[in-house]
Amino acid sequence: MAQDTFSEFLAELKEKNDIVSVVSSYVPLTRKGRHHWGCCPFHNEKTPSFSVNEDLQIYKCFGCGVAGDVIKFVQEKERIDFNGAVKILADRVGMEIPKFNGSDTQADKKRSELLSIMNAAQEYFVANLSKPMAAAANDYIAKRGLSKKVVESFGLGYAPEGWENLKTYLVGLGFSADSVNETGLLTVGDKKSYDKFRNRIMYPIIDEKGNIISFGGRIIDPNDTPKYMNCPQTLLYDKSNTLYGLNIAKNYARAAGSLIIVEGYMDVISMHEYGYNTAVASCGTSLTQQQARKIKRYVDKVYIGYDGDGAGQKATLRGLDILKATGLDVQVLSFPDGCDPDDTLRKYGKEYFDDIIANAKKLEEFKIEKIFSSYDLKKNDQKLAAAKAAMEIASKVTLDIEREKYIDMIVKNTGYSQRAVSNDIDRMAGKAPQATNQQPTGDSSRGSIIAKKPVIKQPQTNQKDSHAEIRLVCLMMRDKPIAEAALKIVNATCFEDMTCKEIVNGIQAVFDSGDTFDSATVISKIKQDEELISNAYNVLMTEVNTLDPVSEAVEYAKKVRRQYYLRRAKQMQDKANAMIADGKIADEECQRLIKEIGRYKTLAKEIK
Ligand code: UTP
Ligand code: MN
Repeated sequence: MAQDTFSEFLAELKEKNDIVSVVSSYVPLTRKGRHHWGCCPFHNEKTPSFSVNEDLQIYKCFGCGVAGDVIKFVQEKERIDFNGAVKILADRVGMEIPKFNGSDTQADKKRSELLSIMNAAQEYFVANLSKPMAAAANDYIAKRGLSKKVVESFGLGYAPEGWENLKTYLVGLGFSADSVNETGLLTVGDKKSYDKFRNRIMYPIIDEKGNIISFGGRIIDPNDTPKYMNCPQTLLYDKSNTLYGLNIAKNYARAAGSLIIVEGYMDVISMHEYGYNTAVASCGTSLTQQQARKIKRYVDKVYIGYDGDGAGQKATLRGLDILKATGLDVQVLSFPDGCDPDDTLRKYGKEYFDDIIANAKKLEEFKIEKIFSSYDLKKNDQKLAAAKAAMEIASKVTLDIEREKYIDMIVKNTGYSQRAVSNDIDRMAGKAPQATNQQPTGDSSRGSIIAKKPVIKQPQTNQKDSHAEIRLVCLMMRDKPIAEAALKIVNATCFEDMTCKEIVNGIQAVFDSGDTFDSATVISKIKQDEELISNAYNVLMTEVNTLDPVSEAVEYAKKVRRQYYLRRAKQMQDKANAMIADGKIADEECQRLIKEIGRYKTLAKEIK
């Protein structure tokens, strides 16, 4: 992917070098809640006080105080400078370091040459599709119910029978054979290379900037194999960072608030045919963190539309957990047995499909159902194992109303008492079990179905104003759109906590400068005072669990503004009270204060 500026390069570098996996290659980390913990690699310790915040891609040691982003980590660990760390990270993910001195670097030249070849190939495939040789391909496309419009918007084409058609065409246009070999469109042998795609329908894979970076090809003759072929990884194409159809879906995603992730090319195209223009596909691979973060740039919610039992597969579930861990609300769609989204639409129609979407299940509910259908609940040990697995999931749910629903499911499936299940879940969540109205029965084990562990006391949450401020700042740092939404409601003035105030100033400064929005850049904009920076990292290491970060941030922002008005009113009230005590109630200043107090209280009340 060509970057226009060094900061775009850095953004891509950081996106590809997930801090959790980089740090993990130096020191083992264990996930606890939303953070990962390990023993600090910078000082000697036996109990972990080193924490990595995956959402914000930063680390902090609560023992020795070191903190930073992935580049800083490599700098410190390898004792090298910034450029050295960038080099290590770029090598790690196979990125070229561009030189932005006006003239194109070798890598840029190569990339743009490969893109030109891809464009030429695309023109060639599309032109073929309207030739007589593509009759069977067109019959097939018609049989699949695809309109001309959708065929065109997805740029479908045809690769003819024969070994060297595309190769000869491209070399004939003047592209070097070497470069043509690097596109992934040819199978390159020791001596010879030849067309990889023969007698196939071609699907260009287009990135969000509109560049054709790869192709997939489907058989027309049902006796051919494999059904689909794909280009290998190339300089242009990194499949772990690509979602098929995102070039189109991205135009609708923000307004819709969600994307629908399906498995195949044809599912995406068919869904668009039926008006579901937010469909994208992972194309046969399980979802990666890079894809998840890409999705998160556009939406906070995804629907998973995998066929039959597809979503229940282990590798797939891991992908769904990655989506969830990125802060996405993950909803799972269930299709009739043996049907993928495309089959479902064509067999049952759009109304039926709408119902499926309306009945989507939260990932947790889906997983709990899956657990109870895969264990033999008539056997006690299996029943207990199933309950434990389901309670583990429920214990991570933050909303009580959702958790209650899962408790019900567990109770119904196992027959364990509601009180025991809910106590165990609380304990797993690290909370003291809820007091119930029921009297203890004397047998304390009745209140629990799992072995008792000491109850870990959660740190008391600070109920002062800073509670909302800290959470708001952490949410704002997760993603630009969240920060933008919050800044429509608050600005730095509204914050009482000095560290939060500085961070919000930093966020604003990043927006003003047009720099890449990420934690390290924001921190680089705030006053370079050691204590302040350390406090800022402390604030940003706060865990905020939410399924809907945007709405949550908006709610916190309103609260912070309301608190600001109330603080102003209180300050004036104190002043006015002092004046009144001095018998100065009739003074102009005192009267002004009283008016202002009223005004601020009204402003606070007006925030809904
Ligand atoms: P499926 O086998 O579910 O195919 O593969 P499909 O999407 O239903 O395809 P149609 O409807 O028969 O045309 C799902 C996805 O897995 C990848 C492709 O990306 C495909 O879209 N795949 C599948 C391959 O890469 N190679 C294969 O041989 C098969
Ligand atoms: Mn299909």
